[in-house]
Amino acid sequence: MTGIFLAGASRGVGREIAKILTAQGLKVVALLQSEDARAELEALGATVVIGDALDGTTIESLVLAQPLDAVISTLGGKPTDGDRPDFKGNRNLIDATVKAGVKRFILVSSIGTGESAAALPPQALETLGPVLAEKEQAENHLTASGLIYTIIRPGGLKSEPPRGNAVLTENPNIAGSIHRADVAALVCCCLASERSHNKILSAVDRTMLFGQPTFEDFTV
Ligand SMILES: NC(=O)c1ccc[n+]([C@@H]2O[C@H](COP(=O)([O-])OP(=O)(O)OC[C@H]3O[C@@H](n4cnc5c(N)ncnc54)[C@H](OP(=O)(O)O)[C@@H]3O)[C@@H](O)[C@H]2O)c1
Repeated sequence: MTGIFLAGASRGVGREIAKILTAQGLKVVALLQSEDARAELEALGATVVIGDALDGTTIESLVLAQPLDAVISTLGGKPTDGDRPDFKGNRNLIDATVKAGVKRFILVSSIGTGESAAALPPQALETLGPVLAEKEQAENHLTASGLIYTIIRPGGLKSEPPRGNAVLTENPNIAGSIHRADVAALVCCCLASERSHNKILSAVDRTMLFGQPTFEDFTV
């Protein structure tokens, strides 16, 4: 692989993805919107580029500036944020990916979008509603883009070490929690797997499910 463009690398799932991919010897181009995490990302071996995902012109020039095999986005904002990247930032990245002729895009979204809304209780849907609506717009933009996509919708995120119990499923009615490092491992498996092409998958820890649902795992 020539390079993976990673948006959201400063923290959380994105930073865990950067750790895995750089350890695999892959070239990671990490998009940061400030210098704060530069030293840590460079210490991992990533190439840092600085830009605001909401600035389409900058994102286009950064994505077009280097040979890439894939773009991964874990961009996210909080319900209380003003201008969030969940739709506009991801749309800019998806459009730049198309323009660059890069074929592959992995989007970390959220359980609660699209048909997986049915998996969340009404109170969670009400609290997260504005963010989930933007994430759904981003998912729809991606699936209509012609790119080879994988959309991974994690459940509630926790920051403890990986547990190794995480699973993917095509069943949109599943909800639960999952550790960020486990989501990152699933994203990296999908990057290497043709089975994940053009799939929308929920990601949960099978020991932290809401309720006791039965469902089929998706094997990457
Ligand atoms: N929290 C949950 O329980 C939960 C559940 C399901 C899904 N999710 C989603 O899963 C993904 C990963 O979540 P996370 O909690 O690990 O990560 P996160 O803490 O939400 O990190 C979001 C990333 O997006 C970056 N970002 C935000 N606005 C940007 C902009 N305008 N330009 C460039 N970068 C920008 C942030 O950079 P800075 O550090 O510079 O702000 C950060 O790297 C997110 O999409 C999140 O919405 C979260």
